[in-house]
Amino acid sequence: DGSLRAAARGTDVRIGTAVDMAALGADAPYKAAVAREFDTVTPENVMKWEVVEPQPGVYDWTAADQLVAFAQKNKQLVRGHTLVWHSQNPSWLTEANYTPAELRALLRKHIFDEVGHFKGKVWAWDVANEVFNEDGTLRDTIWLRALGPDYIADAFRWAHQADPKALLFLNDYNNEGINAKSDAYFALTKQLRAKGVPVHGYGMQGHLAIQYGFPSTVLANVQRFDKLGVKTAFTEVDVRMLLPADAAKTQAQVEGFNLLLRACLLARHCVSYTVWGFTDKYSWVPGVFSGEGSATPMDENLQPKPAYHGLRETF
Ligand code: XIL
Repeated sequence: DGSLRAAARGTDVRIGTAVDMAALGADAPYKAAVAREFDTVTPENVMKWEVVEPQPGVYDWTAADQLVAFAQKNKQLVRGHTLVWHSQNPSWLTEANYTPAELRALLRKHIFDEVGHFKGKVWAWDVANEVFNEDGTLRDTIWLRALGPDYIADAFRWAHQADPKALLFLNDYNNEGINAKSDAYFALTKQLRAKGVPVHGYGMQGHLAIQYGFPSTVLANVQRFDKLGVKTAFTEVDVRMLLPADAAKTQAQVEGFNLLLRACLLARHCVSYTVWGFTDKYSWVPGVFSGEGSATPMDENLQPKPAYHGLRETF
């Protein structure tokens, strides 16, 4: 068949999408396209801490379990997203409510409980999401303030204990090319691995915008992680633009999607390329970046755009 999934077959790169669970439940053509086009899936929101533990000690795995069951039915792997982040944490999880020692115990329990719940069912976890600033300093978060920089190593060790077979990733945006942020990740990855911390992969979200131009050093960046023996993945690719779309922007978008896929295909250890939604019908972009959109490979009617055809041909 002519799907992305078929195009990716025979390469070492898996093709994935973020999945919107509300859409999966309500929109049959959307559901059919997720099954047909992709061989990995990432929950767009339903494995985030605020969803899985809405009240202290009260878990709700319903939506995440549904995605895992869907993936198993369709022979897809699951990327778990995400364990430690500064965003989308439960409202009860604050520095006012807990001491640093309690926060450390809560983070440890969160990781053991969530990774344990999905043990054997999640292929790769985004363990730590967006821990660096653009200048390569550690982001000021509840975790850095309460636990200090070792919270990252701790998170990886706990995740590995909870599911020794899962691949464990760092993940961030604006870290696709060589810059201060990706330099910080490269240094951190080397340091952690030298200490025996189980870091297996480097995730690049890949949220590009045509009006800012595209990074030119993506392949070189991926290749330096290759040399460390570390896996890489593009985890959340979309290529937004200022609306309205036109032919030139649509063509520039093709290049953005292809540039990241080419780097992944040329790298030795790039294991997956995931789009952050495949249709403009449910993309997060218009809600977050005012005046921008058209960021995915299919339009609001799930019709393929040139970016879709570009990806298929690039495979
Ligand atoms: C976004 C989701 O797409 C939205 O639905 C949600 O409202 C906010 O989060 N980086 C990440 C993702 O790692 O988890 C974010 O997902 C997009 C940016």
